[in-house]
Amino acid sequence: MRAARFHHYGGAEVIEIEEVAKPQPARREVLVRVAASSLNAGDIAGRQGKGRPVHAGKLPHIPGYDIAGVIEACGPGVTSFIPGEQVYALTGLRAGGNAEYICLHQDKLGYAPASLDLVSAASVPLAGMTALQGLYGRASLRAGQRLLVIGAAGGVGSFAVQLGKIAGCHVTAVCRDHQVAEILALGADATIDRTREDYSKLGERWDVIYDAAGHLDFAEARRALGPAGIAVATRAYPTSMLAARLQPTGQRYSFVITQSRGHDLALLARLIDAGQLRPLIDRVFPLDQIQAAHRYYEQGGIRGKVVVAVAHPLL
Ligand SMILES: NC(=O)c1ccc[n+]([C@@H]2O[C@H](COP(=O)([O-])OP(=O)(O)OC[C@H]3O[C@@H](n4cnc5c(N)ncnc54)[C@H](OP(=O)(O)O)[C@@H]3O)[C@@H](O)[C@H]2O)c1
Repeated sequence: MRAARFHHYGGAEVIEIEEVAKPQPARREVLVRVAASSLNAGDIAGRQGKGRPVHAGKLPHIPGYDIAGVIEACGPGVTSFIPGEQVYALTGLRAGGNAEYICLHQDKLGYAPASLDLVSAASVPLAGMTALQGLYGRASLRAGQRLLVIGAAGGVGSFAVQLGKIAGCHVTAVCRDHQVAEILALGADATIDRTREDYSKLGERWDVIYDAAGHLDFAEARRALGPAGIAVATRAYPTSMLAARLQPTGQRYSFVITQSRGHDLALLARLIDAGQLRPLIDRVFPLDQIQAAHRYYEQGGIRGKVVVAVAHPLL
């Protein structure tokens, strides 16, 4: 099968399209023919050799944390899916989505939203579940609360804005000027242009501050958090953890690591098929142009998600 792989860390140029062995499903695994995968911040960090040493000693590596595709075969003990079904998933730490086939444990899969094509569906799993688990899980978002989403135009942020509205919150989105129209169209009640204003110095207070940018400074966020508010981070910063520990108040700080859960994918699919949630897709690149996709994503200023179409034409 064809796959995008890198044999050493570096810039986008290290990723090559290569012929690799097609995987065989083990017990409780399904073999998925991949239609598309989407880019996440972790793909860039992984290629650069940054972050968790998940690839250490495991090169060459196939990137891609999100997939959507069609089940081609089921391994022994698979009871939840049958060949031919359209599914989507967060692959987990070993990534592997930028390939024509991938084997995944059945518990990681969800049925792809029926109302989306598979290219669009591939933009949902990691970003959607990150926002879902941070806001509905950790922050226990409730109707009537004021939610601030930092990094609202990114992959995670664009889902966070919509999940905030679905929960009945007043949502303020921090983004750049050229992203405002899309973010208001997702339902945001107000926006803050991060190039001109500092949310923590506006004199406003939020019940929940959700950091979908990965830069939350809790000491700063406190100025904008209500007395019993919670700041939920997508990246752990020791200074923020320390600030929360050294000066305990009613204000809480929490960092969430996204889990790969079939039942969360099922909820996201229901919300999408009900017309309440939609992926915001900036651009789709074919697998052959994976280097260009990485470079485009790394420029920043993206509106939503960048998708890599693995199988063209669509399955
Ligand atoms: N904990 C976990 O398990 C987990 C899972 C998934 C993702 N994450 C993390 O979540 C974060 C978001 O991921 P993503 O895939 O949504 O990334 P993304 O698509 O690149 O989105 C990040 C967004 O944050 C904005 N941004 C960057 N710096 C900012 C700043 N200083 N202030 C305000 N906004 C800023 C970016 O805007 P511009 O591009 O316009 O600068 C972009 O819109 C990343 O840090 C990622 O590592 C964590």
